[in-house]
Amino acid sequence: MNVISFDIIPSTNEYCARNISSLTHGDVITARRQSAGRGRKSRKWSSEEGGLYFSLVLKEGLSLLKSPGTLTQLMALAVCKAARRAGAEAYIKWPNDVLAQGRKFCGILSEAVFEGQFLKAVIVGVGINLSQKELNSDKPAVTLAELGVKADAEVLLKEIIDNFNFNFDLLKRDGFEALRSSYKEAFLYLGKPVKMHIFEETVQGTAEDIDAEGRLILRQGETLRVINIGDMDF
Ligand code: BTN
Repeated sequence: MNVISFDIIPSTNEYCARNISSLTHGDVITARRQSAGRGRKSRKWSSEEGGLYFSLVLKEGLSLLKSPGTLTQLMALAVCKAARRAGAEAYIKWPNDVLAQGRKFCGILSEAVFEGQFLKAVIVGVGINLSQKELNSDKPAVTLAELGVKADAEVLLKEIIDNFNFNFDLLKRDGFEALRSSYKEAFLYLGKPVKMHIFEETVQGTAEDIDAEGRLILRQGETLRVINIGDMDF
């Protein structure tokens, strides 16, 4: 694992995007603090000391993916497994938050880099609340420390990357189907009523299934709706 560490930079995702040509597949960029951490939907991601902030650069095997979004799900699974090993009762909120006791302790922002129309790289950025005071408050949030989980940032990072790489190999060989049962087991809302925001639309239903491509199957009465992109309410 090739890790490049900084004390403070604006954003590990932004660093990767700016230096993408000189970075290689599998490089991991970490920062103890970010001065302009970014979250999904152009939100700010508060990144004071005490959290784990990193980005993983992926350049190989991308053409084998049906959707680059699957990489976010793969990362959520990798974080979930590592956090469980550290002692947290972690679950995934489809597609890309990781929660414990119903509160978010990890957010993931994947960004694609194109060269013309070709997908050149995907940057998978991860923010994990370990023990910092100021949390991102778009959703109910928690730190691992508040849950009584003592996680060493370096150990956690290594486990997450190992988990990710293991699952990425499976994904490239057999598609999302190879990870589907693990993902479903870790998915907090399976079989439960959910409220989803899909672009401007808000829909309600039951989270019926995760399909062989990692998409959410939402039941609305007799209708099954296949959802690629969306956000779930807590
Ligand atoms: C979310 O909105 O839930 C996603 C948050 C992702 C934050 C991480 S921290 C490391 C990487 N660098 C960034 O600027 N953002 C991601």
